[in-house]
Amino acid sequence: MNRREFIKTTSAVVSTATLFGGHEKLFAAGMDNVKVALVGCGGRGTGALGNFHEAARHLNMKVEIVALADFFMSQATKVAEKFKVPKELCLAGPTAYKKVMATDADIVLLVTPPNFRPVHFEAAINAGKHVFMEKPVAVDPPGARKIIDVGELANQKGLAVVAGTQRRHENSYLETHFAINKGAIGPIRNAKVWWCGGALWYRERHPGEDDASYLVRNWVNFTEMSGDHIVEQHVHNLDVANWFLDRYPKTALGFGDRVHRKTGNQYDFFSIDYDYGDGVNVHSMCRQINGTYPRISEFFTGTTGSTFGSGQGKEEFATPYKMPPKPHVKNPYVQEHINLLDSIARGNPLNEAKNVGTSTMTGIMGRISAYTGQMIRWSDLMENTESPFYNLAMSPSPMDFEKGTVKAPEEETAAKPGKPS
Ligand SMILES: NC(=O)c1ccc[n+]([C@@H]2O[C@H](COP(=O)([O-])OP(=O)(O)OC[C@H]3O[C@@H](n4cnc5c(N)ncnc54)[C@H](O)[C@@H]3O)[C@@H](O)[C@H]2O)c1
Repeated sequence: MNRREFIKTTSAVVSTATLFGGHEKLFAAGMDNVKVALVGCGGRGTGALGNFHEAARHLNMKVEIVALADFFMSQATKVAEKFKVPKELCLAGPTAYKKVMATDADIVLLVTPPNFRPVHFEAAINAGKHVFMEKPVAVDPPGARKIIDVGELANQKGLAVVAGTQRRHENSYLETHFAINKGAIGPIRNAKVWWCGGALWYRERHPGEDDASYLVRNWVNFTEMSGDHIVEQHVHNLDVANWFLDRYPKTALGFGDRVHRKTGNQYDFFSIDYDYGDGVNVHSMCRQINGTYPRISEFFTGTTGSTFGSGQGKEEFATPYKMPPKPHVKNPYVQEHINLLDSIARGNPLNEAKNVGTSTMTGIMGRISAYTGQMIRWSDLMENTESPFYNLAMSPSPMDFEKGTVKAPEEETAAKPGKPS
């Protein structure tokens, strides 16, 4: 069996493997190294590659980097230097991801801005790669649906897909989830979720810089690139709400506005009421404004109690609500890669595409409500092809970047809901 076949069919071999902290090799004879490639060599891409190495160390596996791709060659070579691999492995440009998929990488890490994720994810699964992809995974409804569909294809192909919604790999969250499922606070009746913090960075256009390069460098300020911050950051908390409630909102109704932000076309704050049916509502707030009250968390109220998503401020849950201990590392950014590799080795690949696709769609749903002033239904985005929102696709699209037809959106302005009085 060659190593590629092996990585796809290792379940029997590793049934007794010690996960980590132990000394058995997860990938038995002939499979103690894994080939990885990175698409998107920025801050998180560099971090994710480091986390991947650390996870592999816990599993006694060796990592071989086979390609590093970025829009800019300078970004890719920075990562090559950091990880001490030859610059010949670096690839650049908006189509560099295609060359990555043609390598013999076992796993690809997709860490560009989120507007590119659906196209990159589809290419990776078509090429038979296991995937780690950062959240969020799309910026518009067609993109989020593509992630869910391609995730299904990954299932059929037996490929693992782990997303950067790391709270799902964080012990404190897993403990709270376990306790709530066992009835520690009774059925959830409502929740509040927050990502309220300061302003992120912005980058001004260099003299003579083309639209595509400018948008890539300043991506966190353009909805077409990031989805706006209700999608880009707040997806973490919305994901916890969907996870703990084990369903998606039926409707979203909310508002937001642009106040201080420089460059781009995003809002600075959103306040959205998500209706999950059965009288259960989740109030979501997110804000990126300096000098305002900060809070990043989730709070659930049940019929008999309440708790933060992380269990923060609580005594340990008592039996029978206490999760049986299981091996884990403290850093969820490492644990998610351990879980990815472990699931592949066991021949039982994790697939988080639907979770992260639907949580991304939840953020998109709130954003569309705030931008338009309308109540948005889940069915408008997922089922009702006649809805004006079903095919709402962002422009420029990833294909515009590939074809060199990018036109930057108008700046220093933002969506205005309703009509002037
Ligand atoms: N899970 C988390 O807590 C967490 C934290 C930070 C960022 N993120 C996510 O990670 C992703 C990247 O964020 P970041 O902070 O690293 O941004 P970044 O700007 O530091 O890096 C993005 C990199 O992608 C490159 N790039 C852009 N378009 C590309 C393309 N088409 N092909 C190849 N490379 C391309 C850019 O040149 C840049 O080097 C985002 O989706 C972000 O939301 C997640």
